[in-house]
Amino acid sequence: MSPRFLLMTEIPEPGLGMLREAGEVTLGSEVGGNDALPALAASGDYDVVVCALAQKFDADVLAQARLKGIANYAVGYNNVDVAAATEAGIAVGNTPDVLTDATADIALLLILGVSRRAHEGEAMMRAGEFTGWRADLLVGKDVKGATLGLAGFGRIGKAVAERALAFGMDVVFAPRPPAHREVAPEELGELAGRVEQVRWEELVERSDFLSLHVPLTADTEHLVDADVLARMKDDAVLINTARGPVVDEAALVEALRAGRLFGAGLDVYEDEPAMAPGLAELDNVMLLPHLGSATRDTRAAMAELTARNAIAMATGGEVPALVNP
Ligand code: DGY
Repeated sequence: MSPRFLLMTEIPEPGLGMLREAGEVTLGSEVGGNDALPALAASGDYDVVVCALAQKFDADVLAQARLKGIANYAVGYNNVDVAAATEAGIAVGNTPDVLTDATADIALLLILGVSRRAHEGEAMMRAGEFTGWRADLLVGKDVKGATLGLAGFGRIGKAVAERALAFGMDVVFAPRPPAHREVAPEELGELAGRVEQVRWEELVERSDFLSLHVPLTADTEHLVDADVLARMKDDAVLINTARGPVVDEAALVEALRAGRLFGAGLDVYEDEPAMAPGLAELDNVMLLPHLGSATRDTRAAMAELTARNAIAMATGGEVPALVNP
């Protein structure tokens, strides 16, 4: 029997064509959508589900599932209970590496955008409220010489560090907050001697810009809570391009409302696609709709890797980006 793929999220070429060539493709939207996911996964009608963040595979769904694999069209895989998938003999794949640069670019865009108040300027132009150059108009915060603290120092954290160094920022990092893990200089490659490793507590207190690059796990949920926000510098900027629940969004709204921070730049939200009440009314926050990997080349590369993962899962080949231990 040829491989049967269920696409709960549509993927672009070349991934879609690769799947169609390798087997039968069913679109989830034509067989009940997300509400039907547990039943579809349990039906035995599909070998591999291609999905993204909106498709949740919890332990209950996985215990009933009759699948060979789940090919996540994302590098983050907090939507899948990987331990339960492993227990059920279901492979889980993701898309590392191919989206590192695009996501790091979005973090820099938010660092620069918030510091230079680009979102406020853009809103002013669209509202026809620009009345001419003024010395005090939307005066921002310098990045050159500022300290960028990176929470998490995997592929994306390192790519953000490279970019920030080019802008003259001082870069400090905590590799796996809130715990401490010493990174050996040889693990830093070309960044050795150009970035400084500190503990999470010190990172929070020293950062002019604090940018989050950790996966969402039980340890990192609400890593940035009211207490951390209170310990950040008064004029600091928080950037989140990782996962929304890493930040206590209600506490962030309070801190921003109280003028405790210079501002925040967010690409992800705690209860996506919803936002915490009050967030959208604040001027000192720049908001993007989860665009980290949204470039044509990146999405094509993600689609290709997702298809390679899915085909290998369905045919018993070696899965190029396997998440299960
Ligand atoms: C990822 O790949 O994890 C991005 O956040 C898109 O979901």
